[in-house]
Formats: sequence, C-alpha cells, structure tokens
Amino acid sequence: MDTKIKTLIKKLTLEEKVSLCSGSDFWHTKEIERLGIPSVMVSDGPSGLRKQDYEAGTNNVNTSIKAVCFPTGVSLAASFDEDLVRRVGEAIGDECQAENVAAILGPGNNIKRSPLCGRNFEYYSEDPLLSGKIAAAFISGVQSKGVGTSLKHFCANNQEFRRNSYDSRIDERALREIYLKTFEIAVRESHPWTVMCAYNLVNGVQMSENKRLLTDILRNEWGFTGLVMSDWGAVRDRVKGIAAGLDLEMPYSYDAYDSLVIEAVKDGRLDESDLDRCVKRILEFVYKAVENHNDEAVWNKEEHHLIARDIANECIVLLKNEEKVLPLRNDDHVLIIGGFARTPRFQGGGSSHINCGSVDSILYALQWNSKIIFEEGFSAKDDSYDEARFSHAVKAAKDVDKVVIVAGLPDLYECEGYDRDHMDLPKVQNNLIEAVSEVNSHVVVVLENGSPVTMPWVDRVEAILETYLCGEGVGVATARALYGKSNPSGRLPETFPQRLEDNPSYIDFSGDITRIEYREGIFTGYRYYSKRKMPVLFPFGYGLSYSTFSYGLMSTDTEKMKDDETVEVSIDVINDSMIPGKEVVQLYVEAGIPNTKVRRPVRELRAFKKVFLDAHERRSISFILDKSAFAYYDTDISDWYVEPGDYKIEICKNADEVIAYKTVNVMPKKPKKPLYDENSVYKDIMENPNAAKIAKPYFDKYLFKDPDEDSTDEVATEAFGSDPEIFLRDTTLRNVVNMSFGKVTYEDMKELIDRLNR
Ligand code: BGC
Repeated sequence: MDTKIKTLIKKLTLEEKVSLCSGSDFWHTKEIERLGIPSVMVSDGPSGLRKQDYEAGTNNVNTSIKAVCFPTGVSLAASFDEDLVRRVGEAIGDECQAENVAAILGPGNNIKRSPLCGRNFEYYSEDPLLSGKIAAAFISGVQSKGVGTSLKHFCANNQEFRRNSYDSRIDERALREIYLKTFEIAVRESHPWTVMCAYNLVNGVQMSENKRLLTDILRNEWGFTGLVMSDWGAVRDRVKGIAAGLDLEMPYSYDAYDSLVIEAVKDGRLDESDLDRCVKRILEFVYKAVENHNDEAVWNKEEHHLIARDIANECIVLLKNEEKVLPLRNDDHVLIIGGFARTPRFQGGGSSHINCGSVDSILYALQWNSKIIFEEGFSAKDDSYDEARFSHAVKAAKDVDKVVIVAGLPDLYECEGYDRDHMDLPKVQNNLIEAVSEVNSHVVVVLENGSPVTMPWVDRVEAILETYLCGEGVGVATARALYGKSNPSGRLPETFPQRLEDNPSYIDFSGDITRIEYREGIFTGYRYYSKRKMPVLFPFGYGLSYSTFSYGLMSTDTEKMKDDETVEVSIDVINDSMIPGKEVVQLYVEAGIPNTKVRRPVRELRAFKKVFLDAHERRSISFILDKSAFAYYDTDISDWYVEPGDYKIEICKNADEVIAYKTVNVMPKKPKKPLYDENSVYKDIMENPNAAKIAKPYFDKYLFKDPDEDSTDEVATEAFGSDPEIFLRDTTLRNVVNMSFGKVTYEDMKELIDRLNR
C-alpha cells in the first residue's frame, strides 16, 4: 500500500493534490477519477449512525436514514463500563459497515467544564480518565468492525457560545492534566483512524492551525498516525492549516481556498512536502476504508433496538431511594405523571440527532400493568402551565400508593450550537413535584436530561432515578429499573453542584467574552468541590443499587516503589444482599501526603472497574497502577513527574466517600533536579528523617549561643519567639550562612547540600 500511495502522489498534479485536501460535498472525500482514487463517506454519530439519506430525493444534509439511537455520551459514561461501551461501538460499527460509511464522526471527548455546555450530553465526563477510557472503548468497538472513528473535538471545545471563535486560555498544567489528557488516553489506547480538530482557538491559536497541538503533541508525542480533519467549517487559513498538520478540510468549501494553497506552494510559502504529507494521510485513510469494506455486511434494526435497551439498563443512575420505595411492586397502585412518560427525551439536538425507527416510551413499556394510571401534568416540550393539567395530576396523586414523575429538560433547553443560561428544570415541573409531594409521601422522580439540573425538591421526594439521555430503549430500560427487573448500576460521571454559582468555571463562562480564561486550572469538577470542601447535591461517581455492597480488606503488593515500577492493589467486594447487582469499584489517589510541595487536588480517579456480583457473592478485584497514577505535569521540566513522597491509594464509593486506603511511598527514578539546594528550607529538610539527621548539626550550629557572645543575639532570638522550630521553619540553607555571623560557612553549606543529595 505504501508504494501504491507513493506512486499516486507522484502522479497527482499540484492542483489535484490541493483539491484532495478538501471534501467533495458535506460527507465525502474527493474522487480523482483519472487515477482511480475513490471517494469515501463519513457520517455523523456518535450515539448512532446519522447518514444522509441521498435516496430520500432531497439534498437536505439533515435528512438521515433510519437508524438506532443508543444511549448518548453522558449515559454511556455513567455506565462506568468499558466492555459495555465497546459493545455499543461494535453495533454502530456494524451499521456503518453495512451502510458503506468509512468512518463515524465521534466519539465526542471534551471535558465537561461547566454544566451549561449545550453539548454536554454528547460528552462523557468532567474527569479525563473516565472520559478517555470510555472514548477508547467506543473507538476500539467501532474500529474492530473495519470502520474508522473521528475522535472529536480536539481540543478544549468546552462550550457552544461563540464556538467558532472563542479562545480557550488554559495554563499548561491544566491543558496537560485535564483537557489533553482525555484525548491522550483515547489516542494511545485505541489508535483512532482520524481526529477532528475543534472550531475554537487554544491559547491564541486557531485549532485548525495549531501545529503544537496537531503535530508536536498529537503525533510526535502520542504517536498518532491517522488523519486530522477539520470540524465542519473550522478552517480559517488552509495554508497555515496544512503546515500545522491539518490534513483534510471538511466539508467542501467550493474551492474557496484551493487557489490560495496553490499560490503558497508556488511562491514557496508552503513547502510542497507538507502538502504531500497531508495527501498521503488522506490516501491512507481512503484505502484503509476501501480495504476494510465488506460488501456483504448487513445489520438488523430490531436486534440493535434490543441492544440499545440492554445497554440503557446499565447506564441508569439511582440517586436516592428512601424507605426502599423502589423497586415498585407489581400490585402498587401507581400514578405516572409527565409528558416525558409518553414522549421521552432520549437524545440531544444537533449533528448527533438520530432518525430513530422506534422509541420505547415508559407508558408503552408499562402497558402490561393495569394498576397504573397516567396524568400528563406538564408538557415535554416547554415550560407552559396548564391549570387543568396541573391540578388533575395533583388531585390524582392523593389516591394512589406511589407517584412516578417523569421530569426532564425539553429539547430546546440543551442542544448543539448554544449553551444553557441556567441549570434549572422548567418551573412548571419543579412546582408540580413540590405540589405532588405535599399530597403523597411516596414520590419517585425520573429524570431525562443531558446535564446536571438543580433539584429544589430533593428532600421532599423518596427516590430519584437519573436516566440522562438514554437512547431509544429508554422507556423499557426505565420501566425495568422502576420495577426491579433490572438493578440500577450507573454512577454519575460528573458532579451535580447545589447551584450553578458553585461551579468552578462559573465566573469565566460567558457568551459575551471571546477570550475564555480557564482560571480554575486543574480544579475542574470534583477536583474543585473537594478541595473547597464544598457540599454538593451529588458527588462525582455517586450512584445507588438495590443490592448492598461491602468491602473486605485492602492490600497492596508493596509499600515502597520507584516510579518505573508498578503497584498492585487488591480488595474484596461483597454483595451482602439477595439481589444480584453491579458495583463500580473506584480507585483514587491522594498525592504527596502530608507534605506535598505542589498544588494537587484532594484525590483523583486513577482506575475503576464494574463488577457483577450474584446474591452474597464475594470477589477479589485488583488494579495495577503505574507512574501515571502518581504523576503531575511539571512545567519546569515539561514532563510528567512524580514528587517523592507518600501517596494514599483509596478505594472509594464516590469522589467524596473513602472506603479504605493504603499508603505507598513513591520515588522518582530520576529526580528532576537535586532534591536539595541553597534554597531548601528547614521545614522541608526536617520532614525527611534521613535528611533531618544529616542537617540537624548545621542548624544547631546556627542556633547555638556562645556563652562568650554579647546579648544581642539572644535579644534577636527572643524577638522571634521562644520556639526555634517556628523561627527556623522557612529558613533556607543559605540564610544560615548569611545570618550566622560567620559561624556557618559557605563551604559548610556546600558540603551539607552534597551530603543531603547523596
Ligand atoms: C459538529 C461536529 C459534526 C459536524 C458534522 C459540526 O458542526 O461540531 O461534531 O460532526 O458538524 O455534522
């Protein structure tokens, strides 16, 4: 293939090469008939296949063929289950293969910086590890079927306001640890065929021209070898783009820029070898797709609909369940309220919108049960109030055993292209939940939303079931969870703050400003709330089950390691109940305890595993951690670095609840610089027992009062208080030389530093 591509590049004219680097229409790459270079098609997703329906006789890019809508990104992340997400990828890969789509435009892997981002439902998490792992699983699923993916939107595309022109200003550490990390994990683990560059600028440079990110980091550091395409319309200057490593402009821009690129090559502003490199990657992609295409592939809608239901089961998060009001009993007399029970909200608006064949509503799923009655209460479309509808629902709630209110965000509230202004449900829904809980004390709220909402009624209802936007199988999956035919096992992939103002990006998130300063730095999501010890509505990783789990003893296979070694962490998980269920074991690391010299979050998610446990089953779970579990990005050395010290490895229920921990001492194989120098302070030296022993005489000499000396020294010492520890705490080694009136010499200091470092 290599030789074939090289030969083709030689045969292509400059004009042909330039034209190849832009699409032929909204969804296709260019064909060069003269040389037999075929065109291949890409299509949107990623919660299903959104392939333009050319046969529908219209040229409308928004008319797509019927396909199956699987749970959206946020729901998939809530499963905390990489195997499950791989299965979704495989099913979508089968559809693409059968529909002759070379690559699906997803997954969306941007960090949820604010609950307001209009595309949060498409994205996975506020945490880069969870997000990156889920993205990697999706990519490997799709690609196992011989179909490509486009990991998007690279990078720092965390809002929709001014999405084509805002500039994400992010400090290097936050960029590396949060916004790039999620992409780094996905690229390194799953090798996507393509990456889609984002609309926005990062630190002043348009992403479609960002050589540092598109080439230096993505390719040279992470080893990405595929094709970079632009988001639709994201190109500003194609000459700069090609030089920076943007291979393919999408969609077709009607040759708007071709002549500019040709001129630039002719007058030497653009090296032709840069252009050739882009052409090579495009041809590699095209022929990879052609070679992997299977003409005989078919897919079955009904089968995939059933898969969508089963997947949805695993994504639902049980947020509250008092008095064991759930699961409902078959003979409970239940009132279901809410327009969403009839017309569920199960996907978001915009380019990911799937044209579904069949959608399960909750009411449809519960037809078998004659003990159920329904009242609309409010519309699923908007915040309109209808007196009769509202009061009928409240009245009916008085005479039933339990009430299930299916609430959520109407389509218009969250969508690609704009952000939300607030975090609230429509008022009519909040009011109705309050009114119903006045007359019935067994209220269950089911939520259909793509992003966190406020819950002013949280203490008034007995149960809350967060289904997010769970795909076309949502109705059956929710009904199963409500009646205990399935056991909720999702966990929140993001924090639900009590109020929008608590969110770390609140001050800097705005539609009026183009330059968006990410002032919270690495403190996104739970990293911020836990550092501030701020109460939240529901923490990251939170979720209940109908089963009850407990944990046995935790162990690690070492207490001391170098950062080029690994540590194995094991713990037993026990299902203490009669109900089979799944637990998500979450492992976090708390850094540099207790004397970290670097600003770190309280704890960071470093591994997770979802396990199925039969009634009363006990299983041992283990994790292997390497350097990445302990390191931070050190901007002094432009590399990941493990600060020497103690780290708490914690098994947690969620980001706020530690079940067990073990402390491991980790040393860098190569210290970034000698540990001690002239500016090392007393306090730091004394924290290390070995160093303390060596340095003690040095400081003693400084403090020791010569009986022959006059009293001035004593007066000075007294002025600092009588505790020499406090006096010395921040004293550097060189202060001692400078201030000891010759008692401690420069040579003493040099010798000490030498010994300490040895
Ligand atoms: C979106 C992408 C999408 C593309 C094609 C853009 O507006 O940002 O996510 O894949 O359109 O529809």
